[in-house]
Amino acid sequence: MNILFIGDVVGSPGRDTVKEYLPKLKEKYRPHLTIINGENAAGGKGITGQIYKNFLEWGAQAVTLGNHAWDNRDILEFIDQAKNMVRPANFPAGTPGKGLVYLKLNELEVAVINLQGRTFLPAIDCPFRKADELVEEASARTPFIFVDFHAEATSEKMAMGWYLDGRVSAVVGTHTHVQTSDNRILPGGTGFITDVGMTGPYDGILGVERDAVIKRFLTSMPVRFEVPKEGPVQLSAIMVELDRKTGKTRKIERILINSDHPFYS
Ligand SMILES: [Fe+2]
Repeated sequence: MNILFIGDVVGSPGRDTVKEYLPKLKEKYRPHLTIINGENAAGGKGITGQIYKNFLEWGAQAVTLGNHAWDNRDILEFIDQAKNMVRPANFPAGTPGKGLVYLKLNELEVAVINLQGRTFLPAIDCPFRKADELVEEASARTPFIFVDFHAEATSEKMAMGWYLDGRVSAVVGTHTHVQTSDNRILPGGTGFITDVGMTGPYDGILGVERDAVIKRFLTSMPVRFEVPKEGPVQLSAIMVELDRKTGKTRKIERILINSDHPFYS
């Protein structure tokens, strides 16, 4: 069972890149499921109903979120109907949407869990204890459990990987937008990477217009962050191959496509 996960899609350059490369990635890697982190998909902040629909039309089966989940108000109109949308499960009780979604694949089922870290991010419920609860629930149904852990601190992401090792198929980090080269299979069989990386403008800073970010560092003045409309783009993703019986990771491969890392079909 192959799962392709595309890291944080930023704005229209990110969306256009998904549309262009997803068919090519599907041809090359033959994923049974494709999951996209879409929390930055609408102008860098949040997601709209139309973008969610587009991701599914272009071939994704689920869309995960993160700290920008509510930044585009459109989401409140559709999240309760969007059955393949996964928002961080450890948002406080009463938050709209779901943090665990089951995807059907013939006779198999894959549980997709989204969690958010608490280090350098707003205070929410404990992601580790929420993970315990959801993994226990999901593992009663399926050995295929995929976790997107949206967090700032590399240590918190590694801690989650080790904490869930042997209990889930894979833990992939998102949010920091720079792909890490530490993809590995932990001793219990859980595939892990600290951060999958970002899909969007390559010559910006984390997908944002770079001049504004530099100005902010130089002056500490408030600046408006915009997604550049033009310029080179990149796609960051991870591919995990799971054992069909145990659900454990057999192979975890980084995918990075940009002008310095061309795509070969
Ligand atoms: Fe984020």
